[in-house]
Amino acid sequence: MQHPQLKSIVQEMPKAELHIHIEGSLEPELIFELAQRNGVTLAYPSVDKLRAAYAFDNLQSFLDIYYAGASVLLTEQDFYDMTAAYLRRAAADNVRHAELFFDPQTHTDRGVPFATAIDGIWRACQDGPISATIIMCFLRHLSEEAALATLDEALPHRDKFIGVGLDSSELGHPPEKFARVFARCRELGLHLVAHAGEEGPPAYIETALDVLQVERIDHGVRCLDSAALTARLAREQIALTVCPLSNIKLRVFDHMGQHNLLELLDAGLAATINSDDPAYFGGYMNDNFLAAFDALPLGLSHAHRLARNSFVASFLPEAAKQAHLAELDAYFAAL
Ligand code: HPA
Ligand code: ZN
Repeated sequence: MQHPQLKSIVQEMPKAELHIHIEGSLEPELIFELAQRNGVTLAYPSVDKLRAAYAFDNLQSFLDIYYAGASVLLTEQDFYDMTAAYLRRAAADNVRHAELFFDPQTHTDRGVPFATAIDGIWRACQDGPISATIIMCFLRHLSEEAALATLDEALPHRDKFIGVGLDSSELGHPPEKFARVFARCRELGLHLVAHAGEEGPPAYIETALDVLQVERIDHGVRCLDSAALTARLAREQIALTVCPLSNIKLRVFDHMGQHNLLELLDAGLAATINSDDPAYFGGYMNDNFLAAFDALPLGLSHAHRLARNSFVASFLPEAAKQAHLAELDAYFAAL
């Protein structure tokens, strides 16, 4: 029997978001506002026409429009406004803590200084209303030399980000392409994550773990294609930052009823729910939770476990982690 208040519980419970590309939170309305503010001409005549173009066949068809959307970001204030809007929206979904991906190369390759982007995002993180940290992602369709150069540019800002990740076009760009830059980041004491097993095979998840030595896998849903890998992820409790609406929009699964989230949980994996690129995929954290809970036979214990996993897998200091977990457990104990 499903708990009668399951939906409101899922919305109200405290949670952390670990997989959000901040450029993917740029809503069409804000894209138009920033384009106007900066005198940038867009290929779309209206907000509605832009939104109508958000019909994707796969990851690449999304990335093409996502990079075009990010082209309106020019000033530090633009990056601040984008981030502040996301943090307000996340707070409304009872997200207590967020770890934000950003793609510096998307901006530096357009002539926007690294400092402009990170300073705007970082300043918004300091202003709240929730706790937020930054993870810088390397674009995997570009070379490892470009990633190494980006790391050099980032080092003067070392105190503003907690880790590095790997995103953009997965197929044909396996994690091991970035072995040297991730080794350097590890020596620098940065946290390490990578997108793997979204469209790519289980082998990409394995090399992300074995060659890059990442602490979490972003997406990772294709791990179930390998029984040995699934058993390892369960044994080592490697967190997967799963993004249900993203997976449907990018056709990783045909519809939510076919999503493998419940199988991941049943296999004992440390799965979490996240929004990925909420402005493009039809929803923020609670939209993702509700879409999954509507379509799949998930109950109260799954909700509690997903929220627990999100704090456990976060890169928060241990004391903050325990405080969030205590608040979460008290919320469920009081039901
Ligand atoms: N996958 C890979 N790269 C990305 C994504 C994603 O879902 N979103 C933004 N960059
Ligand atoms: Zn992603």
